[in-house]
Amino acid sequence: MRALICNEFAPLDALHVGELPEPRPAAGEVTIRVLAAGINFYDTLIVQGKYQVKPAFPFSPGGEVAGEVVAVGEGVRHVAPGERVCAFSSYGGYAEVCKAKASQTWPLPAAVSFDAAAAGLVTYGTAWFGLHDRARMRAGETVLVLGAAGGVGLAAVQIAKAAGAHVIAAAGSAERLALCREHGADELIDYATTDLKDAVKAATGGKGADIVVDVVGGHYTEAALRATAWRGRILIIGFAAGEIPRIPANLLLLKGCDMAGVFWDELMRREPAEAARQVAAVLACFADGSLKPPITEACGLDAAVAALRALAARKVAGKLIVLPHS
Ligand SMILES: NC(=O)c1ccc[n+]([C@@H]2O[C@H](COP(=O)([O-])OP(=O)(O)OC[C@H]3O[C@@H](n4cnc5c(N)ncnc54)[C@H](OP(=O)(O)O)[C@@H]3O)[C@@H](O)[C@H]2O)c1
Repeated sequence: MRALICNEFAPLDALHVGELPEPRPAAGEVTIRVLAAGINFYDTLIVQGKYQVKPAFPFSPGGEVAGEVVAVGEGVRHVAPGERVCAFSSYGGYAEVCKAKASQTWPLPAAVSFDAAAAGLVTYGTAWFGLHDRARMRAGETVLVLGAAGGVGLAAVQIAKAAGAHVIAAAGSAERLALCREHGADELIDYATTDLKDAVKAATGGKGADIVVDVVGGHYTEAALRATAWRGRILIIGFAAGEIPRIPANLLLLKGCDMAGVFWDELMRREPAEAARQVAAVLACFADGSLKPPITEACGLDAAVAALRALAARKVAGKLIVLPHS
């Protein structure tokens, strides 16, 4: 089968399209004819050996897929060959067929397109887990989203807005912020040109944000913490800026606020039933149109490296998807 292949941990340009043997499902696994696969920040990391998961070579990146079940391994009963599904495959998705754990494969409602599922499963799954579960978001709260024009960021903007929150989007350019506005952000902060803490304080009448969605890390985390309200919650989701922040713990004490880790992979591994419940809730919102994954561009396998490069270079607003059979 055709696949984007990684033969060694190396920069993105070392990836190439070639042939890999089609995977077969072991017990507890499913193989999926991939009709769409999402491009996420971690796909750019896994091929460079910079992610927690380090697959054996050769492998194909691509952790988020939607398609039709080809075959199921022993013990798999909740999906069957031919059925529409979406899955967190971890890797292997930029290929005509990929393998996923059955516990991370879910039936896809007829009303949700393969493209939408591939563009939204991971980002909305993560943002949903953070906002509804870890932060217990309530209507009327103010939610500050850092990296708001990216995949998880735009998902958080939409989910918070749909739940009745007041949403402040922070991103690195006017163009990226305009996209956040289109997706429901109430207030916009260009953190490339404005002091983040001062801008959040000004936007909240000095009170600060109730919830911070942090996918960026670096120096932004402390600035956001300093602009957090009493009893606020800071969701630590990712470090797209490349630097893991160190936080003065006295700020947590002074603000009576919580920092909560949000690791969606671990939710699936440790609490599969709860993860399935949250995924079903997200897919139901895709089906009724209350959440709409923002697909910026779809490309074939041959253009996948360029798409990964664009994401790593901070040039993508919204979400890119790969269509391996196009
Ligand atoms: N914990 C979990 O379960 C989980 C799940 C999914 C993703 N993540 C992590 O969350 C982070 C965001 O993922 P994503 O898919 O939303 O990525 P993305 O679409 O690339 O968005 C990341 C955003 O971060 C901002 N950013 C600031 N400094 C950056 C830099 N030096 N390089 C790249 N981006 C930078 C960019 O916006 P501006 O240019 O506007 O600043 C960009 O839009 C990643 O670290 C990812 O690994 C974690």
